[in-house]
Amino acid sequence: MSSPSSSSESSDLPITQRAIKNISNVCFSAFVLSVLVLTVAAITYTPPDPWLQSSLSLAKSLSATLPNSTFFHTDDSVTTTGEDLDLLSPQPPPLLNQTTATTTTTSSPSLCSSSSNSSSSSSLNCSDPAVLAAIRTFNAKVFRKSITILAYDSPPVPGPRPDQCDASWRYRSRKEKSRRRYRDYRRFRLARADNCSYAVLSAGTFRSGANAAPPRRPRSATLPDAEINDTIPVLASEEAFRKGRYLYYARGGDHCKGMNQFIWSFLCGLGEASFLNRTFVMDLGVCLNGGHTASGRDEDGKDFRYYFDFEHLKESAPVVEEREFLRDWRRWDRRRAKNKISVRKVPSYKVTPMQLKRDRSSILWRQFRGPEPENYWYRVCEGAAAKYIQRPWQALWKSKRLMNIVTEIGGRMDWDYDAVHVVRGYKANNKDLWPNLDADTSPDALVTKVLSMVKPWRNLYVATNEPFYNYFDKLRSHYKVHLLDDYSEMWGNRSEWYNETMALNGGKPVEFDGYMRVAVDTEVLYRAKTQVETFNNLTRDCKDGINTC
Ligand SMILES: *[C@@H]1O[C@H](CO)[C@@H](O)[C@H](O)[C@H]1NC(C)=O
Ligand SMILES: *[C@@H]1O[C@H](CO)[C@@H](O)[C@H](O)[C@H]1NC(C)=O
Ligand SMILES: *[C@@H]1O[C@H](CO)[C@@H](O)[C@H](O)[C@H]1NC(C)=O
Ligand SMILES: *[C@@H]1O[C@H](CO)[C@@H](O)[C@H](O)[C@H]1NC(C)=O
Ligand SMILES: *[C@@H]1O[C@H](CO)[C@@H](O)[C@H](O)[C@H]1NC(C)=O
Ligand SMILES: *[C@@H]1O[C@H](CO)[C@@H](O)[C@H](O)[C@H]1NC(C)=O
Ligand SMILES: *[C@@H]1O[C@H](CO)[C@@H](O)[C@H](O)[C@H]1NC(C)=O
Ligand SMILES: *[C@@H]1O[C@H](CO)[C@@H](O)[C@H](O)[C@H]1NC(C)=O
Ligand SMILES: *[C@@H]1O[C@H](CO)[C@@H](O)[C@H](O)[C@H]1NC(C)=O
Ligand SMILES: *[C@@H]1O[C@H](CO)[C@@H](O)[C@H](O)[C@H]1NC(C)=O
Repeated sequence: MSSPSSSSESSDLPITQRAIKNISNVCFSAFVLSVLVLTVAAITYTPPDPWLQSSLSLAKSLSATLPNSTFFHTDDSVTTTGEDLDLLSPQPPPLLNQTTATTTTTSSPSLCSSSSNSSSSSSLNCSDPAVLAAIRTFNAKVFRKSITILAYDSPPVPGPRPDQCDASWRYRSRKEKSRRRYRDYRRFRLARADNCSYAVLSAGTFRSGANAAPPRRPRSATLPDAEINDTIPVLASEEAFRKGRYLYYARGGDHCKGMNQFIWSFLCGLGEASFLNRTFVMDLGVCLNGGHTASGRDEDGKDFRYYFDFEHLKESAPVVEEREFLRDWRRWDRRRAKNKISVRKVPSYKVTPMQLKRDRSSILWRQFRGPEPENYWYRVCEGAAAKYIQRPWQALWKSKRLMNIVTEIGGRMDWDYDAVHVVRGYKANNKDLWPNLDADTSPDALVTKVLSMVKPWRNLYVATNEPFYNYFDKLRSHYKVHLLDDYSEMWGNRSEWYNETMALNGGKPVEFDGYMRVAVDTEVLYRAKTQVETFNNLTRDCKDGINTC
């Protein structure tokens, strides 16, 4: 057990289970180590499985293996954005007396004086503090359970009609563990309640108050959404550069592997940097594995920021961007022939983080030479290093741009929906490993099974990797069926998402790729009231193939 990381045995899943059975015989830490290695290897070597590809499910499966490990901190994955309640719009305007009652309690006499004179005039002055007071009271009541409003960007501004005002605010979701802040802006229709106050008659949907939207930056900036600061940090000066200590991972064999491996490896590097108290030099270029691209081939040149929240990462861990870093390094090095920036090249992962702890070189450059799997980043964190290095899961959140789409989809269904997860794809075709899956997820079987778990005529969101849109038509006789493709305008060429990702991509449109689809689909699924899973609820087949459960 002294070298549990030998890779030949590692793809063999049953060993894990045997190891679990023999736990009492084995030294516990060695067990943890081997389970870890085996689990990772098992994940790495599975064919691309979109349903494994969310950091939540990855962390879940890992933390199930290691209940008290650090993998629990994946709060981004459950970014419940249930605050997008436009419960009001389909209903008739709320009873005036009701809203008025709450509104008047907050309005102070001083508000009256400023507006009392104009009270007879019908047009609304949105900057009147009484308007904001009415909106505030209204929101506090409607969003009480789902969000905490942090601040309003006062004052509200006029909407297109004289009785409308658009207001904007920042909020935090109560259903989400992360401290992430979001922004919403909505359109309100108000009426004067009495001479001192207003009442909100109706409120628009998520981000309906376009006039209160934060101003866009100039096109030249890489930052079209004022809410998301993805910019690449620049190192201020030569002095700052020389003072810094860096950990630089050259591109390894992980490149173009699945997103799970990317996350697992990236967090290993970030964890080592933290252990060594160094700034991590990161490559924002991501290669998307062919399992998630339309072409079926690996596609290089994707941006980390399409998938993950770089702003949060910058705030959580010291990182610099690779190209920026290399440019500075070259520049400062050339200028001073004598005072070279010290570099230590580390050829193999076999040099452990502990051995590097005392190294004073400015740059530690891990090279990842050699054939696979010798050149995987995550191997640095194997073996004895696993005891010292913790992967900083909390630093990696999903892209806020994707989460905004999730919020919008949930909001369209008034957050009142159930969901069924229908896994098909290559698993449905493989009768050896999943003998019943295809039949159990056939259109007729779906109707029978879902009816036994979800009340008819509910909103039913179907998260699936089944590409044929009309596959679920039979459910439509019993449910209001929603599929991801019903919302394609949210990433279509007139969407905010499209504009923003295009700006990150040097003005070229970005495809809404398979990984993004899975990310959004899964997050919408997690927020449903009732969730029907494929494995367990629809079929007795095991998630990972025959005899694995
Ligand atoms: C995890 O930690 C809790 C409390 O810290 C403890 O009760 C539990 O036994 C631990 N579980 C394992 C598997 O170590
Ligand atoms: C105010 O609204 C309540 C319902 O919330 C209703 O029962 C009541 O009759 C209303 N009062 C008036 C004066 O309209
Ligand atoms: C209301 O304001 C108008 C000017 O906008 C002024 O002429 C008028 O005297 C004011 N009335 C009262 C009651 O203050
Ligand atoms: C609207 O109200 C604000 C604040 O009370 C005031 O400064 C402004 O002059 C008003 N505008 C109009 C058009 O009455
Ligand atoms: C509001 O103003 C109207 C005149 O515009 C007046 O008749 C009424 O009594 C006032 N109501 C209150 C509650 O001040
Ligand atoms: C964006 O973040 C960087 C730090 O990463 C900061 O220097 C910059 O001022 C921020 N820009 C804005 C507009 O907040
Ligand atoms: C980490 O590095 C910073 C500067 O890079 C230094 O100020 C700090 O003392 C270091 N902390 C430890 C624990 O070595
Ligand atoms: C946007 O997409 C639609 C259909 O996909 C296409 O007809 C239209 O020309 C596109 N518009 C732009 C500005 O690219
Ligand atoms: C996207 O950008 C185009 C051109 O810059 C602009 O006309 C359009 O309003 C933007 N769309 C959104 C939703 O921001
Ligand atoms: C799905 O199966 C699990 C495990 O058997 C069960 O706990 C859950 O209630 C089922 N879900 C539904 C919607 O019936």
